[in-house]
Amino acid sequence: MKRLFTSAVAVLMLSACTHDPINPGPDHSHSCHPDTVYFVNEVLPLFTANCASSGCHGDTNPADGLSLTTYDGIMDEVKAGNPNNSEVYEVLFETGNDQMPPPPAAPLDSLSKWKIYTWIAQGAQNNSCSDCDTASGSFSQTILPIIQSQCQSCHSSGNASGGVVLSDHAHVVAAVNNSGLVAAIHRMNNSPMPPAASLSDCELAQFDKWIADGMPNN
Ligand code: HEC
Repeated sequence: MKRLFTSAVAVLMLSACTHDPINPGPDHSHSCHPDTVYFVNEVLPLFTANCASSGCHGDTNPADGLSLTTYDGIMDEVKAGNPNNSEVYEVLFETGNDQMPPPPAAPLDSLSKWKIYTWIAQGAQNNSCSDCDTASGSFSQTILPIIQSQCQSCHSSGNASGGVVLSDHAHVVAAVNNSGLVAAIHRMNNSPMPPAASLSDCELAQFDKWIADGMPNN
């Protein structure tokens, strides 16, 4: 068990924060901590994938009246801080006809069980995390590196595509104020930028935050 625990922690540290953009949940502001299991990121998807299929514990007419697609529904069967007395954890170890998920579905793997155990032991909160840091960004550390890698090949002073130069702070501010940069990066006009593929959600959030802060030259 100790060994399983250790390797599970190692796997979690590698995988916990590489998910796709997460659903907004309460308490969404945390950056991902490797020792914490987050309900919205990691636990709810396990229930949705393994328990909520039709005829089981989904939204419509759930078995035993137990819907496992929402935090409140799951909490009906959870004693926060006490996984061994929580029905949703205990049933994972049943065998035969009582096995959950029921045969022919495979039992949950050890890492999934460990996540549910740890989430309950940590207080079974409705928590989530995001690795996108919009708080500590600055023009020089956050915005300029994005522009250098994603924009300057086409928007330097020697190659001003569309007449737009993005070489330094003053030019970027001018492009926001006069050239529709915000609409372009959010792909809401006829010139989505960069043309080939969108900036990531995190890069867009960092841009929006910097603009909302008044485009400081910091
Ligand atoms: C592969 C080349 C290329 C890259 C990379 C690129 N652009 Fe452009 N950009 C263009 C071209 C070409 C135009 C002018 C034609 C057009 O509007 O589609 C343009 C136009 C623009 C405009 C003016 C839009 C308008 O409505 O007139 C803005 C603002 C802009 N780009 C911002 C950016 C930003 C910000 C990035 C990086 C996040 C970026 N571009 C990356 C080629 C590029």
